[in-house]
Amino acid sequence: LANGLGLTPPMGWNSWNHFWCTVNETILRETADALVSTGLSKLGYEYVNIDDCWAEIARDYNGNLVAKNTTFPSGIKALADYVHSKGLKLGIYSDAGYFTCSKTMPGSLGREEQDAKTFAAWGIDYLKYDNCNNGGTKPTIRYPIMTRSLMKAGRPIFFSLCEWGDLHPALWGARIGNSWRTTMDISDTWDSMMTRADLNEPYAELARPGGWNDPDMLEIGNGGMAKNEYIVHFSIWAISKAPLLLGCDIRNLDNDTMEIISNKEVIAVNQDPLGIQAKKVRSEGDQEVWAGPVTGYRLAVLLVNRGAYRYTVIGHWSDIGLPPDTVVEARDIWEHKTLEKTFVRNITATVDGHSCKMYILKPVS
Ligand code: DGJ
Repeated sequence: LANGLGLTPPMGWNSWNHFWCTVNETILRETADALVSTGLSKLGYEYVNIDDCWAEIARDYNGNLVAKNTTFPSGIKALADYVHSKGLKLGIYSDAGYFTCSKTMPGSLGREEQDAKTFAAWGIDYLKYDNCNNGGTKPTIRYPIMTRSLMKAGRPIFFSLCEWGDLHPALWGARIGNSWRTTMDISDTWDSMMTRADLNEPYAELARPGGWNDPDMLEIGNGGMAKNEYIVHFSIWAISKAPLLLGCDIRNLDNDTMEIISNKEVIAVNQDPLGIQAKKVRSEGDQEVWAGPVTGYRLAVLLVNRGAYRYTVIGHWSDIGLPPDTVVEARDIWEHKTLEKTFVRNITATVDGHSCKMYILKPVS
């Protein structure tokens, strides 16, 4: 969407994957504090996004949305002021239907202009717009009404289409939103995560600055996967130019989680200004090669072993898109080491089960 936002994939946090409907304003404030105190905000994590369940089921007598008194007693405007005072941005959630998915609050269908104005007046910077309870009309009718309403509301608001991939929002999302889901909800397991990665991949060519494919939010730190699996999760999301929206409890980060989500070199691949989504250029059994260009005539390459046991994975230049005699320097961006030898024709690594190797290849001759 040409609203000047999302020139690189959005980075931040969202309440859903960890807190579901138990979200409240204290969690939001403490999360904002923690994003700053951990240094994550300096790495680019800027959006603090409230998901479903933040509003009263009834609108006020003017038809305006009202923050839930028991969980957001200070109101959303005060929360936005607090989040902004920390140098961060506040995101909110609504639904292109009559109720949100939780059915605990109203949706915005038929009230788009009014709600967009409310969000702008509160100081909202990001809207995730869900797809439940929509009365069966087409998303291509319902979503653009909110796009126009946001454009008129007088405040730049990143627009995240949460149409879960039913009607292939990747095919029509670019003029409507800044990101669009390509899959149903992720859960905190290896299979769910890898399935999201696969479902998202075929749309690679439709991603561009201002509009991103969204395979759903990150589960890193929620405890359902092993460290090596979370590294694969972060690597695929980064190379796929997916939104990097953390979904764990930022107030209680363990060292492994922090190490993964704060990897500057992997974040730099995600935030590369070219904004080109990597593709799965080879898959043979459980071994996969993902690759895509980054600035400076370089390539980001990911060797993934989906199997249970250690295996050799080969990234052939012919798959990656390099002429066969190109000599490259390789930097391992999880080990943070530029490898001593240079490579021609391929780069090969022994990769443990459910693990990956991620490199930046730079042609030297
Ligand atoms: C469905 C979405 O896909 C999820 O990310 C989350 O927003 C829930 N709805 C909330 O009900």
